[in-house]
Amino acid sequence: MCGIVGYVGEQDGLEVVLGGLRRLEYRGYDSAGVAILGPDGSLTVERKAGKLANLEKELAERAFPGTLAIGHTRWATHGAPTDRNAHPQVDCSGAVAVVHNGTIENFGALVRGLEERGHERSSDTDTEVVAHLVEERYTGDLAAAVRSVCKDLDGSFVLVIAHRDQPDLVVAARRNLPLVVGLGDGENFLGSDVTAFIAHTREARAVDQDQVVELRRTGVVVTDLDGNVVEGESYHVDWDTSAAEKGGHEFFMLKEIEEQPAAVRETLGGRLTEQGVLHLDELSMSDEDIRDIEQVVIIACGSSYHSGLVGKYAIERWCRLPVQVEMASEFRYRDPVVGRRTLVIAISQSGETADTLEALRHARAQKAWVLAVTNTLGSTVSRESDAAFYTRSGPEVAVASTKAVIAQLAAMYVVGLYLAQVRGTRDADEVRAHMHDLEEIPSLVEDVLSRMEPVRALARELASEERVLFLGRHVGYPMALEGALKLKELAYISAEGFPAGEIKHGPIALVEEGTPVVVIAPRHALQAKLVNNVQEVRARGARTIVIATDGDESVTPYADTVIRIPDTKSLLAPLLTIVPLQVLAAEVARARGLDVDQPRNLAKSVTVE
Ligand code: F6R
Repeated sequence: MCGIVGYVGEQDGLEVVLGGLRRLEYRGYDSAGVAILGPDGSLTVERKAGKLANLEKELAERAFPGTLAIGHTRWATHGAPTDRNAHPQVDCSGAVAVVHNGTIENFGALVRGLEERGHERSSDTDTEVVAHLVEERYTGDLAAAVRSVCKDLDGSFVLVIAHRDQPDLVVAARRNLPLVVGLGDGENFLGSDVTAFIAHTREARAVDQDQVVELRRTGVVVTDLDGNVVEGESYHVDWDTSAAEKGGHEFFMLKEIEEQPAAVRETLGGRLTEQGVLHLDELSMSDEDIRDIEQVVIIACGSSYHSGLVGKYAIERWCRLPVQVEMASEFRYRDPVVGRRTLVIAISQSGETADTLEALRHARAQKAWVLAVTNTLGSTVSRESDAAFYTRSGPEVAVASTKAVIAQLAAMYVVGLYLAQVRGTRDADEVRAHMHDLEEIPSLVEDVLSRMEPVRALARELASEERVLFLGRHVGYPMALEGALKLKELAYISAEGFPAGEIKHGPIALVEEGTPVVVIAPRHALQAKLVNNVQEVRARGARTIVIATDGDESVTPYADTVIRIPDTKSLLAPLLTIVPLQVLAAEVARARGLDVDQPRNLAKSVTVE
């Protein structure tokens, strides 16, 4: 949460930083601010509550020359989202400007000390203490002052700091939260992720725990908190810049939904050898260790958790291994039973979700082998896991995850098949056949996408509803949860997903005349039971909206609206049923006049527990 950008070079600093903030706005959007070091040695701070556009409007009224700048887009933790609490925060003299992602847990004690020493606070933020502490400790070496301050901070932070007397230096520090350096020619960059600077450079360097970066025009030095220089390797980012643009769509989410065939294709790509053997080198476990696995535990949050639920069905079916799926926020607090023979799969698009990160740390401390399934190269989740399987869906900007989730689903099927191959629970022919079914999916998703006009029309009809229920069985159940999550987060409609067989144990009381009930009902062995459940809700007045396979008429007599999808193997159906659910939620939100990309109260990377 919160996006941070830093720049020093030859270009207009404000322009570079604003460009970065536009790409990072998905991380938080309740206020934004910049600091620019002018050629006259002035350090100008501008900040504004509301979305970045508010700040940009204000900045457009004046010129702010300068080739060193820092910027921030905020998701508030300490202090309401007001102008005075927006970042950058400054010290008493206005010489130090600080932007911060994270929370400083001991800020209360630090504030008391600062007040006793005569500092005056001008905000309610925890961030401001850093500005004052740097002010106290700065004696000409900004990096040394920052290193010293970091030693006294508890909590998680990425700090980016400029000083009025340092026209060629931005200093940054990192603990727990993401920070990436962009390496340019005569210019260098800092960002919460690489999208902040891929318009300028594709060469990046990750920053590790408790490291401090000194960013100058001609080079970058990284040290530990004692000032020892640490070498690091740069890597090339192959995301292209257009991937982080809307490309003619009104919202990123609508574009990202359209990009799903490619996301699945790229994630599956090149895994079968000519001999039909499935490769998953990323797991980096020996065959012997794979055969020794006793259980699989999947940890994730939100939509990634729903991908994990689908993964459970696939892994249990193909590998005959017990699989538990747990919300990462709950995992470590119940003292879970995991050990050397447990494979833990941590699923996270961003690779920065604090709950998932803490859960995987706990699992590793119990000696489990942790495989990250993530979309973000160099992310903390991938670096702290034993192995990483990258979903290749490209940068995802809309807060609601779509193409990354479908890629996670594809990845979970691949993991399931690979474990089955190595453990011998599925023979080579069967693994190959399932992989071929998976390889068909991208063109089937294209087909689904070409049929979305009726879903858009339906969305306009549902825009005034207050409650929508989602039902599914087997792998349709996680998709019912996903459909409900998307609708509530985007359209602010109360939505709940249930296993269809469970509704008669309570939730059916919610059904009244006209209540929309979306039923995920692709062809499946449990079809007859699901048809019964559709009848049950319809008999009580529900308006039934059924996602059904082409040619399957078993459910249509009980459906007020039918959304058709092409046929595929029933275990793989989530890869298709997820699409109309995403489109429905986005279009209901659009019909309600809401911001589809940036729903209220949310941020894309949830870096607080
Ligand atoms: C919902 C959504 C969230 C994320 C969740 C986990 O549309 O996007 O529920 O899935 O916050 O995020 P990651 O996958 O980055 O760990």
